[in-house]
Amino acid sequence: MLDRIDHIGVAVQDLDAALELYRDRLGLSVAHREIVQEQGVEAVLLDAGENHVELLAPLGPETPVGRFLAKSGPGLHHVAYQVKDIDAALDAIKAAGLELIDSRPRAGIRGSRVAFMHPRATGGVLTEIVQPAASLVSH
Ligand code: CO
Repeated sequence: MLDRIDHIGVAVQDLDAALELYRDRLGLSVAHREIVQEQGVEAVLLDAGENHVELLAPLGPETPVGRFLAKSGPGLHHVAYQVKDIDAALDAIKAAGLELIDSRPRAGIRGSRVAFMHPRATGGVLTEIVQPAASLVSH
């Protein structure tokens, strides 16, 4: 059901300060930057080999990442696995009896479709599944 890890999500207070670390000091290159209104974040994807680090800065305090930062501070936020067919993956996750935050896919970064499983169902790890935009799928 799950393919390779697509990205890890990191919650940050300040995107530019985080870029100073990840891009300027650690040397990862920026692949994409986007405001994703549906998730209440401004996000930056950095290339790490064929995987990514996704920096997430909240658009406001009353967003999921804003609430996460208030509760836990900056740091590791979620792990995202690639799937080929997110609708089939969601059906399989439901059939496995695992609790979802999103029962239907929603818009993710770079034209992807994403859904989150509840950390209650996944041992405390907020887990995202992501079907990349067709134009970005490598074979
Ligand atoms: Co993500």
